[in-house]
This record gives sequence, C-alpha cells and structure tokens, in this order.
Amino acid sequence: MRKCCSIVLVILGCIVVSSCASVGNNKTLYFAHSLPTSHPVHKGILVMQEVLNEKSEGKLQIKIFPDGQLGSEREALELLQIGSIAMTKVSASALSNFVPEYQITVIPYLFRDSEHLFKNLEGEVGKQMLASGTEYLLRGVCFYDAGARSFYTKDRPVYSPDDLEGLKVRVQNDQMSVDMANTLGASATPMAFGELYTALQQNVVDGAENNIPSFVSSNHFEVCKYYIFDEHTMVPDVVIIGTKFWNLLSDEEKGWLDAAAKESVAKQKQFWQETIEENMKMLREEGVEFIYPEKEPFVKKSKPVMERLMKDPKLKPIIDKINAN
Ligand code: GCU
Repeated sequence: MRKCCSIVLVILGCIVVSSCASVGNNKTLYFAHSLPTSHPVHKGILVMQEVLNEKSEGKLQIKIFPDGQLGSEREALELLQIGSIAMTKVSASALSNFVPEYQITVIPYLFRDSEHLFKNLEGEVGKQMLASGTEYLLRGVCFYDAGARSFYTKDRPVYSPDDLEGLKVRVQNDQMSVDMANTLGASATPMAFGELYTALQQNVVDGAENNIPSFVSSNHFEVCKYYIFDEHTMVPDVVIIGTKFWNLLSDEEKGWLDAAAKESVAKQKQFWQETIEENMKMLREEGVEFIYPEKEPFVKKSKPVMERLMKDPKLKPIIDKINAN
C-alpha cells in the first residue's frame, strides 16, 4: 500500500515539480527523507523550509515528505538522480554507496569530538565532500548534526567488543557500516531503517546502532533495553539537491537556498542538544540501562577499517587532513 502511494506521489511530484520549474515564477522543491517528524533533523528541515519561503517571498518553496513516505534513503537518492524529486536528507553512510568520499565519515573514532567533526565538515574537507557529489548528480547542500552512533541491544549488555561476538546487529545498507560492525566483532545485518523495529521485535536481529534521537523517535527503546555509549562513529546527516534541479535555479534562487540552509544548520544543532537532554531523561524513566564502556578496546579493534580505506589514493589525503586538523 505504502509503495503504491509512493509511486503515485512520485509521479505527481514529477508533474508538479517539472511544470513549476519550467513555467511560472514559483517553484516547489520536493524533499523526501526517512526520519519521523518528531526528530531534531526534521525540525532543522522545517527551518530551511520556513526561511526559504520568507527570503523568496513564496517564489521558491520546499514540500517535505518525511518518514520514508517515498522510500528508503537509497531509493530517495535514486529518485534524485533520475530527477523525480529535487531534495533529500540522508545519512552520509547511505551516500557513501553513491559518492565514495563519504565513506570517510563512517571510519570509527576518526572524529575526536563534535568540535573536531564540525571543524572539518564546515571547513575545506566538508566543502570538498559536498561538491564531490556533483559528479554523481547529487550536490551536497549542508551537513546536519547526527551526534555519535552507539550500539543498543535487546537482551545482552555489552561492555567490550568481545561481548559483540555472535550478536546480529543491524547496520545501514553500505559497505563501510558492514565493515565497521564486523571488524568490531558483531555479525553485521544491513537493512533499511524503516524495517528495523519489526526486525528487532521478531528477533531477526539482536540489536542495532544509532544516535540517541533516532533510538528514541523510532521507538526502538521499547524493544532494546541496553544502550552502550561506545560512540564508534560520528556519521553526519547530509542535505542533497539533485544537480538537475540545482541547474534549473537562477543565481538568486541558489542564494536563497544556500542562506536558508545555513540558518537551518545553526538551529538544527540547538534542536539536537535539546532533544538529547529530553531523550536521556525519558530513557532513564523507561528503564533503559546506559552502559559506558572503556573505549580503548573498541578504538583498537576497529583500526583496520581506517587502514583499509587509507589504501585508496583518492581518500588518503582527505583522511590525513582530518587527522591533522
Ligand atoms: C540516523 C540518520 C538516518 C538514518 C539512520 C539509519 O538516524 O539520521 O538518516 O536513516 O541513522 O540508521 O538508517
């Protein structure tokens, strides 16, 4: 049923978007993403929508399809490439299947903390990454804060990588995420985010890994009672516009969109912090056990992931730059 609606919406989207883009003064950019509307990333996108509307006096608008209404992150990226929708927000992991540079963001313990992460994402490295998508018809607009990802499990507490042995852990659908979880000792099970709640409930997997706001807004905490703060990766979220649509915009319209994105980035970081605080309080009340393991064994065991990527002559200089920053 959902698939059916999605197809109808996409067809509608094609008609509305392309006619708006080519005819009148007003344009509407269709924007799909997979997170629920309570999520701080969705709230960031709402700011982008509002600011764009104000700046353009309604001439350039965004219409949002949240909650995976138009499909998974992979499907949304494909819709962008074929020009059916204009924009999406995905995890940089999902993007790494399409644009190799984003694989770097999935290296465990590469970013030392949030400050180091944003110093890179908002500096030369980030600019280069956002631009690298153009070759694949996926132009980066901005990065959103997606905090740190940690493991969570149904029945087994995890204190060290040894405890991950034999655990089926859902990861995102990309090679780097699979490699990360397997290298740490788990049995990586890639699947789309939207399928995970049922998979956890039905014991298809024993756990997963994500940031706190996604753990909460997806209701996975109802099924998983251990959240382990190993913080193995800091994979950001990325807003993307299809180059086809970007090229249809005038310089003035591009300016409005960039300005709206910039304002949304600052606000989204605030939403993120506020949400973490509220979520942690709620999780404690719900009886989720927080485990703060010693990080060193995780750091050590995951080292080969970075070593493997360093063999790529295109990626090595970027990794070196991040490490030196
Ligand atoms: C994060 C990210 C999503 C992604 C999800 C996942 O929540 O913000 O874009 O879909 O992780 O694990 O798939």
